[in-house]
Amino acid sequence: MKTFSVAVIPGDGVGKEVVPQAIRALDAAASRYGSHLHYEQFDWGADYYFRHGRMMPENALELLRGKDAIFLGAIGHPKIADHITLNGLLLPIRRTFDQFANVRPAVLYKGVRSPLSNPGEIDMLVVRENTEGEYAQVGGFVHQDHPGEVAIQTGVFTRQGVERVVRFAFELARKRNRKKRLTSVTKSNAQGFGLVLWDRVFQMVAAEYPDIETESLLVDAAAMNFIRRPASFDVVVASNLFGDILSDISAIIAGSIGLAASANLDPTRRYPSMFEPVHGSAPDIAGRGIVNPMAQILSGGMMLEHLGLEEAAAKVERAVAAVLEEGNALTPDLGGSGTTVEVTDAVIRAIEA
Ligand code: NAI
Ligand code: MG
Repeated sequence: MKTFSVAVIPGDGVGKEVVPQAIRALDAAASRYGSHLHYEQFDWGADYYFRHGRMMPENALELLRGKDAIFLGAIGHPKIADHITLNGLLLPIRRTFDQFANVRPAVLYKGVRSPLSNPGEIDMLVVRENTEGEYAQVGGFVHQDHPGEVAIQTGVFTRQGVERVVRFAFELARKRNRKKRLTSVTKSNAQGFGLVLWDRVFQMVAAEYPDIETESLLVDAAAMNFIRRPASFDVVVASNLFGDILSDISAIIAGSIGLAASANLDPTRRYPSMFEPVHGSAPDIAGRGIVNPMAQILSGGMMLEHLGLEEAAAKVERAVAAVLEEGNALTPDLGGSGTTVEVTDAVIRAIEA
């Protein structure tokens, strides 16, 4: 039996509820197809911070380095500033392990209502550059706390950084074999250096993929078209900031943030990749047993796929799709009255069926 070692960080709030449930579903899928996931749990996050003054221990990254994958719930607490949680845990993991492609699928499953009146068939993937761009944190303050204060924030775009994420997106469009279409999103009319480099690199790489139809959109037009013609998109590649914003749009037009999965991938496989739902720790509903576990379960499905367990991964997605289509076990975000555990039970039954 093939065994994989997975680091599990449930984190805060609803993360602690959805991660154990998702693990039940992943175990059902893995064992059905003859493999085994070995988990090591890490209690990092807000509670750890209250005890130790940091989000995770000093040697945390060393503890994660040898794993096959990292399975994360959500990080964030109303009593801790968001830049502390982000810079204390999420960003160091994404950067240290060079997880340069953040993949966020948006699928409008049968039985799920989109807020759009006429959405058509939505099945798209947003690939967000995850290591540089507008999130590089280069800049500073001058004349701090004086009326003439100046803040400078610089985006960092490297040819290598753009090329690798664009190439990854082309490969994905080819592998998905759906519409074979890749849309690149920039704002190169206004950001005349970094995103002009992005456009040039996109054109250069596109020449190697004559089988993939390409489209380049400015981010404002892309935001409009995600709403106006979502069914026309297949794979979308965008910078760190634009990918972040656009993937919130793609998540909500597909019905609920409770269904939005994501993967932070190091496609070179030098380091472990990290799988987490798009949503946060949802303190407004935490502890009530009603959080939708499907985003966490689908993120686990992406993890199985990355580990090479394609059949088990496909089964997880089909099981979630079946439960959604039946409509008997749904959490309140999808208009149901089911609990987190009941929904997971239904998914597990569908996996075992
Ligand atoms: P959030 O995603 O936690 O919640 C937004 C809204 O969606 C809330 O009304 C929540 O109840 C609902 N929601 C989210 N996930 C749901 C699910 N699975 N099922 C049903 N409803 C769901 O975003 P928010 O409230 O802005 O942030 C809360 C905390 O989470 C903050 O501390 C924030 O920094 C952190 N956060 C962490 C992320 C991460 O760990 N990657 C991502 C986003 C936010
Ligand atoms: Mg976001």
